[in-house]
Formats: sequence, C-alpha cells, structure tokens
Amino acid sequence: MSDAKVHSVTPEWAERAFIDWDKYQEMYARSVEDPNGFWGEQAQRIDWIKPFTKVKNTSYDYHNVSIKWFEDGTLNASVNCIDRHLADRADQVAIIWEGDEPSDDKHITYRQLHEYVCRLANVMKAHGVKKGDRVTIYMPMIPEAAYAMLACARIGAIHSVVFGGFSPDSLANRIEDCRSDFVITSDEGVRGGRKIPLKANTDKAIERAEKDGASVRNVLVVKRTGGDVAMKEGRDLWYHEEIEKVEADCPPEEMGAEDPLFILYTSGSTGKPKGVMHTTGGYMVYTSITHQYVFDYHDGDIYWCTADVGWVTGHSYIVYGPLANGATTLMFEGVPNYPSGSRFWEVCDKHGVNIFYTAPTAIRALMGAGDEAVTKTSRKSLRLLGSVGEPINPEAWEWYYRVVGEERCPVVDTWWQTETGGILITPLPGAIAQKPGSATKPFFGVQPAVVDNEGNLLEGATEGNLVILDSWPGQMRTVYGDHDRFVQTYFATYKGNYFTGDGCRRDADGDYWITGRVDDVLNVSGHRMGTAEVESALVAHPKVSEAAVVGYPHNIKGQGIYCYVTLMAGEEPTDELKKELRNWVRSEIGPIASPDLIQFAPGLPKTRSGKIMRRILRKIAEDDFSNLGDTSTLAEPAVVDDLVEHRQNRA
Ligand code: WT7
Repeated sequence: MSDAKVHSVTPEWAERAFIDWDKYQEMYARSVEDPNGFWGEQAQRIDWIKPFTKVKNTSYDYHNVSIKWFEDGTLNASVNCIDRHLADRADQVAIIWEGDEPSDDKHITYRQLHEYVCRLANVMKAHGVKKGDRVTIYMPMIPEAAYAMLACARIGAIHSVVFGGFSPDSLANRIEDCRSDFVITSDEGVRGGRKIPLKANTDKAIERAEKDGASVRNVLVVKRTGGDVAMKEGRDLWYHEEIEKVEADCPPEEMGAEDPLFILYTSGSTGKPKGVMHTTGGYMVYTSITHQYVFDYHDGDIYWCTADVGWVTGHSYIVYGPLANGATTLMFEGVPNYPSGSRFWEVCDKHGVNIFYTAPTAIRALMGAGDEAVTKTSRKSLRLLGSVGEPINPEAWEWYYRVVGEERCPVVDTWWQTETGGILITPLPGAIAQKPGSATKPFFGVQPAVVDNEGNLLEGATEGNLVILDSWPGQMRTVYGDHDRFVQTYFATYKGNYFTGDGCRRDADGDYWITGRVDDVLNVSGHRMGTAEVESALVAHPKVSEAAVVGYPHNIKGQGIYCYVTLMAGEEPTDELKKELRNWVRSEIGPIASPDLIQFAPGLPKTRSGKIMRRILRKIAEDDFSNLGDTSTLAEPAVVDDLVEHRQNRA
C-alpha cells in the first residue's frame, strides 16, 4: 500500500537502540547467508553446561521433516533464567506481581525466585516427578505459575500450561493427550473481582480423564483466595505445606538442547487442539534474543507483557525471554477494565513501566472507553509499546501511538505464532520504520515468502499465503505424540516450506501486512480457536443435529463467532434455546469460545457431495450478500435464500 502512513525511526531511537538500520541489514544478511556462524555466536547469550559443536541441522523436506538446533549441547533453562543472574543481580526484582485488586502487589527478587523454584522442584521430585514426565499447570496469573514452569524446567519435566479460562472438559482432553499425572492448580483464581473455581474444575477434569483411562497421581494446590475446596486424601497436596518440608536448593538437571521444555495446546483447522512441542536450547536462544532486540530491553528497564501464561506469549515474553535476560518482568492477575478503564495506565505509573506489550483487542476496547481514562494518568515512564495476537487496524495503532504513547514511543507490531516460539516479523524499534497495520520486516534468521494457492513463489509487491523458507531456533519441533500430524499440518500444503496458515500482502518496500488466517482457524480477541472445535461442541448438544461455524468482523474482538445451527426434527428455535446453546459451548470449551451470534438454519448450503460451503456462510455472516458467488453447484440452492432472509431479519 503506497499511501500507508510511515513513522520513521527517530534519530534518538537509532542512537539508543541495540540495532539501527545499518546493523539490521548487516546482521540479517549474515543470519540467512551463514546461519551456522550467526546462531553459533548468538547462542553464547545462553549458559551451556556442555557446549554444542553443531548449530543447525534442519530439514523441511516433506518426506523427512526434522528440526534440530545446537543438538549436542546441554543446558538447563531454569539456570539460564535464575542461577546465572545470582552473582550480579540476586537482589534485583525478577517479577513484579500486580494483583487483581490495585492494593495487592508483590516484588520477587532473583534470590527469592531461586528459592521458590527450587522448593517447588523438590516438592515435585518428592512426589515422584521425573525428567520427561508431563506436568499440567492450570493456574491464575500468580507468581506460583511462573515458579511451576521453571521448577519443571529445573528437573527436566515437560510442562503443559492450560489457560485458566478453559473448561474442565478442555483441561481433561489436555491431561489425557499428554498422559500427564501431576497437576498444579490453585483453589480459585480472581479476575476483575470475580472468582474462578480452578480446583473444582480440576476435580471434574480428572474425573472425566480417569474415565478415559488417564491417571493423575497428585494435585498440588496453591492457596490464592482461601475459598473452600475439597481435598482428596492421598492425592491432593497443599503447596504451602509441601514447600516447608523440602530443601531450599535443588540441583538442576542437565538437559540436551533438543530435550522438550514444554507442550502448549493450540487450535488448528481440524480435530482437537494439538500439543505444540518446544525444546530447550533453540527456544532459550530465540526468546532471549528477540526479547532483547524487539523490545530493546536494557538493564534496569521495567517490562510488562499483559498476556496470560496460558498462551505462548506468556511463556516466551513474560517468563523465559525476559528472565533469561535478567529483566524485571511484570505479571498482572487482573483485566484491563477493573476497577476502571484506567487500570493498565495506573499500573504503568505505579511500577514505572518502560516497555508495554499488549493485544489489539485490549487496545480497541480501551479506545472505546475514551481518551480521558488514559490522559488522566502520567505514563511518562513508557518508552516502547508493543502489539501481538492479531492484525492491528490502523485506527487502533494510531490511537495507541498518539494517546497512550504521546507520539514518543515506537509501536512494535509483532507477528508470530504458538508454533514459532518467538517473534518472526516486526519492526525493530531503532532500525525499521513503522507502518500502522504492518508487522514490516523479518527478524534475524527468518525468511518469509509469499506463495499463491499452487505454491508458486511470488516476487515483489504481491499478495498470497505466508510461508517461511527455512528454520529458526525457536521453531516447534513436533506435535506431541504425532509427528505425522506436524508434517501434514505445516509442511504438506506447500512442500519444502513451513506454512503459517496466514494470508499476507508484501508492499513495494518489502514490508509484510498480515491479513489473517486463510484456514478454518478463528482469532477471537487474540485467542485462537478452530471452527471445528466449536462445531463439535454444538453438535454434542442433544437438540442440535448439525452446525457450521464461521468468523465475522467484530469491532472489539477482531473476529466474532457466528454459528449456523440446524436443530433436531421437532425442536423449537427459540431465544431461550440460543441462550442454552451459548452456555453449553462455554461449559464445553470455555468462555472464550462463547458464540456471538447464533442463527437457526433449517438447512445448510452443501455441495452435492455433502460438503458444507463455508465460503457462502462467511459472506452471509459478514452481511455481504452481493458476493455469494456461484451457488449453482449446491444440492439445494434455495437454502441460501432462506439463510440470507433470516440474516437480514436478524433472526
Ligand atoms: C496467529 C497465531 C503469537 C502470540 C499470540 C498468538 C495471528 C499473531 C499477529 C500480528 C497479525 C497476528 C496470526 C497467527 N497473529 N500476531 N502481529 N498481526 N496477526 O498466537 O494463538 O498461536 O495465534 O495469530 O493469524 O497465525 P497464536
């Protein structure tokens, strides 16, 4: 887009940042021409127990997809995040915790972090958790969630963090899939003044999972609210009691660079969520380098990423990246609008936040609440703003830049995915001019490309599907327990390349504009969801015979969830039933999957072979009736007229 607004790098930023334009070009060229040299050097930012002798060993060949980095080196991720900082910064704050209530906060130093993580690691060991075991973490945003992740890393257990907003069923599926037998949770979570029954959900989930053959040995419970919870004798343990029984030091396990660090479940276009598996060495190198350069993190900065540790953003940019860099990272338990719409900015003032990283959906919601909620706060500590999770519309970008950052803070729009481990496309703040709505240019070692639907590489200014031509150290290694699914999902569509699932445009300056998913994955408030998951939740309801789910543009959420539902013969299509179905999906998956609009559809548009024509359903949901395309191949073309009529009547 030639008429796009450009915010050039200011001379002050080019001067102060680690990377300016010349350095970017030089380092980028080296990173793709000599990945072994480049990453071999960059990996020195991590402390290795046994140094690696090999750097890159990766293949995108469809018949032999294999990704290994630094494969013969050994290290421990928790040592890199904690122990190695003790010599210089034991008394520096590692984690600032801001509770749901503005009066509630805590500062945890690196020395304290070391003790808490070691104690928790020893508790797990005492209860039989060993290297390679899978530990499920289902927690609110409290420091113990970070301790739990790091304690797993310390003893070589593989953590699987499940977002606290997921339902018991979703938790059960994840416990089952990775056969996890140790769960860490808390009595309740608190967000926006409301309590979330995490322990009760865990009990339900385990009951469900054990019916399916899973077996959970222990549940470790952190007391957050003191609410009443049932404790099962012999299985459930109180965290505050257990940590008193063990030593304050725990020797770290020596891990291979390619030993798994964690599994994180994410939605795809088909089937159940898959366990994205990340390993240790490459992930640590990649989260550390991106955290330093993308946020231009300097010693002493206060850094705040508002994500939840249940998502990859929380893993890479609340916990591992910042702590690997010896940063002070802020962890927030609450929500942007509690007790008021000024909360984010009040927290920035209270703790002197310099670097602030959030999602477009939050920016849009706060923009809607008016400028005054922002301008009544100081925000003078802010120096850099970041955005992640979905495309940011230029209006929201400009508001963020102008009102929140007072035109003084660069905005880094960071494109990446659960699968990529860290940020792949973003303007580096001292190097690359920002364009509202564009993630701009690739990070070191990342080679994006645009292909058409046949897989032909497109040159110059163009539009198509976003692929990556070669591996970078933070890339996922496999789908846990299903390498074939990994290959089929990411390497089968455009053979020889990693397919992101996103569409994009590249402009004449070579800047990338991510336009959103081109598959059946929704992005609702920055949360990823498969249409197939919502559909299978709907058809599990006794009154539903068929369902088709599509996304439609939503002012705040980016995308909303639009459900076409066909009822069983004889069922009445009432508003009451819509409400019931909405609640049903919430309890099957979680509140983030709440349908925004439900349309009862006596019939769905299908091809003669029975395939649902989603393209048409998407258009109807978007209120775009003029562009329905060719409907002549439909088995029953009349169902389309009926759906359109009902949509227009807002039935
Ligand atoms: C999908 C990945 C990466 C952490 C949070 C989401 C979309 C993410 C951007 C951005 C446009 C973006 C993509 C991507 N996305 N960041 N800056 N601009 N789109 O991780 O849940 O794995 O979702 O989020 O569609 O594929 P995720």
